[in-house]
Amino acid sequence: MIGSVFVNTSRRQVQFQKRFFASKIGRAGKNIPPQIQEMMERKLYNVTNHPISILSNIIRKYFETEKITDIEIPGEKFICESSFNSLVNTKKCFDDVLVPKDHVSRQPSDTYYFDDDTVLRPHTSAHQIEMIRSNHNAFLVLGDVYRRDTVDKTHYPAFHQMEGVRIFNYDQINAKDYDHAKKIAENDLKQTLLGLSSHVFGNIETRWMPENFPFTDPSLELEVFYNEDWMEILGCGVIHDQVMRNAGRDPEKEVGWAFGLGLDRWAMSLFQIPDIRLFWSKDERFLGQFKEGEITTFEPYSKFPACFKDITFWIGEDYDENGFMELIRDNSQDMVESVECIDTFTHPKTQKTSKCYRINYRHMDRNLTNEEVDEWQFKLRERVESELELELR
Ligand code: PHE
Repeated sequence: MIGSVFVNTSRRQVQFQKRFFASKIGRAGKNIPPQIQEMMERKLYNVTNHPISILSNIIRKYFETEKITDIEIPGEKFICESSFNSLVNTKKCFDDVLVPKDHVSRQPSDTYYFDDDTVLRPHTSAHQIEMIRSNHNAFLVLGDVYRRDTVDKTHYPAFHQMEGVRIFNYDQINAKDYDHAKKIAENDLKQTLLGLSSHVFGNIETRWMPENFPFTDPSLELEVFYNEDWMEILGCGVIHDQVMRNAGRDPEKEVGWAFGLGLDRWAMSLFQIPDIRLFWSKDERFLGQFKEGEITTFEPYSKFPACFKDITFWIGEDYDENGFMELIRDNSQDMVESVECIDTFTHPKTQKTSKCYRINYRHMDRNLTNEEVDEWQFKLRERVESELELELR
């Protein structure tokens, strides 16, 4: 995967990293900052209407309800496990899945260490072995993962992955020997993932790229042509025979495939969310936009503060509310984010009705000053009287 720490890094690079961080390895313990600890609590994939949970449910649905490939196994049902602790020991995270001892991904420069033997998982592959060991043969693992990384619009120290695994015994697939079994598993993997990509992205161009992961052989990457560009969407492969053994299975009798995908990147393209930080927003204008089961286009909103002003006037029978809205828009050059009628009052004696509107002035790219908002509001009051011929209260 692009940006993946699991692709082979050149020997020189590893050595450089080793020397550079040699001093830090000794005191690897506790490099998890408080902001990250706070993110560990959020579990965005459980937040209804959050793009991460919407997308993960769409993917789950594909595995749980569709006949995914030509190989059908009676009684097989994909389960999705999302309750693993994101703190895992280095054995599960690295040793069991054959990540070399000197690999950069083990460095405290790349991975958050809770103590010398415990990390914040940098990938959901950390749970492969325990799932396979507990006799699961078709499963997904969903979780928040963490990597120390550069800062830009598509990288963030916390993101989300979904892992998928399917295991067959040779009889189920009529495999003659190990090589034959591997070939069948690889074909099934490809069929599964092409089905998944068209389930989520629709009918689009795809291509396979060779890749290198320690835990799969062969290893591949799937790319899709989406939003006018090739985008890498997942890493996958046939589970390495030694990983099968580490999970208590006999590779002469059973074979399996695995994939891992980054939900945040998928969601950014599908929902057209321009900045990965938005996923962590607690703003109602973000969360309020999305609906369960639907991929909708994100509507940008301003990060700058709101400034509320109220206006109240008497209305007649022929009052035209949209005319008032147009006047507001014209008056403040689109600086108004919303207008809400907060009160309607009918005078008991005169039967005259008045309306009070709350106007939210907010600029998309800068702070508004009090003076300019006051000026717009003052002009608006004048124009309501002169142009709409309404009487202010
Ligand atoms: N764990 C890999 C990553 O995070 C993805 C992967 C999972 C690749 C399973 C192959 C098999 O980059």
